[in-house]
Amino acid sequence: MITHPTQFISRALDNNRLSDGFYELELEWNSHAPAPTPGQFLTIRIGNGKGTVPLLRRPFAFSSFDADSSVVRIIYQTRGIGTEFLASARRGEELDVIGPLGTPFAVDTDRSKHIIVAGGIGLGPMLFLSSYLTSRNISSRFVFGCRNEGFIPSIKRFTAANPLICTDDGSAGFRGTAADYINANILPDINTDTTIYACGPLPMLKSVSKIAKDRNANCLVSLEAVMACGVGACMGCVVPTVNGYSRVCKEGPIFNGKDVLWERM
Ligand SMILES: Cc1cc2nc3c(=O)[nH]c(=O)nc-3n(C[C@H](O)[C@H](O)[C@H](O)COP(=O)(O)OP(=O)(O)OC[C@H]3O[C@@H](n4cnc5c(N)ncnc54)[C@H](O)[C@@H]3O)c2cc1C
Ligand code: FES
Repeated sequence: MITHPTQFISRALDNNRLSDGFYELELEWNSHAPAPTPGQFLTIRIGNGKGTVPLLRRPFAFSSFDADSSVVRIIYQTRGIGTEFLASARRGEELDVIGPLGTPFAVDTDRSKHIIVAGGIGLGPMLFLSSYLTSRNISSRFVFGCRNEGFIPSIKRFTAANPLICTDDGSAGFRGTAADYINANILPDINTDTTIYACGPLPMLKSVSKIAKDRNANCLVSLEAVMACGVGACMGCVVPTVNGYSRVCKEGPIFNGKDVLWERM
């Protein structure tokens, strides 16, 4: 059994628009590669299909893994050249993939309360985590923050997570950020028996991490960094932590919120 990340040629099975600027790509997973778990990511070598625009590999978190069919999904936002190319991938297109990479979320079963907080491109890994917890009979609350109702995805897995939706402009659900919602509605319920899992924009991670610190809760955050090698070799993705500079692609992307030097991020 292979336990290290594997490089292989995968094939796109589906690639659909989910919401404003967001897509979900379904990919074949190599059955000899390790099973991805929530929090881990893959890198894809994206080009224009003619070999004339080879880009650095782009990292994306797994949003699901189906072991029976050997299929993985990623949810991605079109941000620049690589993700624009990815959005044009058709069924059957071959993609050079490496994974699974990075550390997964360590689910703390000693604590009984689990709060999942997702914002923007953090949606994919947190949907994976939500279904992973459900499959182990661990109940969780799911708080999703986005700019407006145009960013709310219409997929069953999202509805199944029973999300509490927050929009910046109040066009759907709670008006305000996910952190605003937590502060206004569930703060007293957060304590030493709570783990908060978060993935999304940096301001959201900072706020959530502070809430957890103030309430003596455990907090695991998924950090993002621009990556070159994606496998720990170039030191291009380091973030400041209490243990010195840590690589998002190797020691992360999952970090304990209390270990991150937020003021230097
Ligand atoms: C561990 C990890 C997991 C990720 N998971 C997801 C995911 O599940 N879904 C998703 O949509 N994206 C995810 N990302 C971000 C994704 O890798 C970038 O959006 C993608 O590489 C952008 O490529 P591009 O060629 O389209 O953009 P580029 O043309 O390379 O850049 C476009 C703009 O986006 C900015 N940018 C690019 N990458 C990043 C980054 N990593 N952080 C901050 N700004 C950036 C650039 O500075 C530039 O302004 C993840 C990143 C990491 C490190
Ligand atoms: S991207 Fe090279 S060490 Fe992380």
